[in-house]
Amino acid sequence: MGPRTGGGRRGAAGRGGGAGRNRLYAGDCAEVMAGRMAAGSVDLVFADPPYNLSGKNLKLVGNKTGGDYRMVNEDWDKMPDPGYGEFTDRWIGCCQRLLRDGGSIYVCCTMHNAGAVLGALKKSGLALRNIITWHKTNAMPSITRRTFTHSSEFVAFATKGAGWTFNYFDLKAINPERQKNGDPKQMRDVWQMPIAQGRQRLRSESGRALHPTQKPEELVRRAIVASSNRGDLVLDPFMGSGTTAVVAERLGRGWIGIERSEEYRKHALARIERSR
Ligand SMILES: C[S@@+](CC[C@H](N)C(=O)[O-])C[C@H]1O[C@@H](n2cnc3c(N)ncnc32)[C@H](O)[C@@H]1O
Repeated sequence: MGPRTGGGRRGAAGRGGGAGRNRLYAGDCAEVMAGRMAAGSVDLVFADPPYNLSGKNLKLVGNKTGGDYRMVNEDWDKMPDPGYGEFTDRWIGCCQRLLRDGGSIYVCCTMHNAGAVLGALKKSGLALRNIITWHKTNAMPSITRRTFTHSSEFVAFATKGAGWTFNYFDLKAINPERQKNGDPKQMRDVWQMPIAQGRQRLRSESGRALHPTQKPEELVRRAIVASSNRGDLVLDPFMGSGTTAVVAERLGRGWIGIERSEEYRKHALARIERSR
């Protein structure tokens, strides 16, 4: 059976399997998912895991297009091999258990972790439907000047079982790309948008970004519009600055988030509160 299109499916209101709806848990996502949530209780997972690319202190001071630039270099983003593969298998396996039949998962990745993510999706029996390319229209310049400028990330979209939700017409309606005559156009698997910036970007009083890898709300919006309906439950195992929760609430979906860092959890909760 192919995807179910259009809205109208009664959402999974009240699901969550004992876990509170619209709640941000503290701790390791695999532990929280295994210990507090019931199988089949989630309609959609949006996950933006550590990419495991930290460890180098590359920086570009005096960059003319947006100020000094430092490469992401966070403790939570460093894992030795084969630890990263095992970690990815574990948390994606937990998500597979929590998804209902017909549920979907979106996992952000780059060339650094795409192999582990795609391998884990396959091992857990989830079916890959697309690898979406996010073309970052305001990407940072190449620091080393020895590679092409990295201006893309990927989002692997996979589903569990048959009859997955895919809101084709809702996506057409929000697609900024139009046909030559102005008619709505199918949403392609290449999404052009800038990294989180402007009023959307959480900053400290000194102007420094509060989270180094805050995702643009539009990226999360497209996944939620495509693969859930009002009242459905969206899980984000790596909540970071709270992007998924804010977008899910705006679209009338419930959410559950998990975040290991107390600092980011605090920022996310404040952001969610402000957005209500
Ligand atoms: C790539 S960031 C997510 C950013 C988020 N999408 C946003 O828009 O702000 C990954 C987040 O996962 C958290 N994290 C890392 N390992 C974790 C784990 N095992 N369990 C829960 N959270 C974890 C990190 O603290 C970090 O905030």
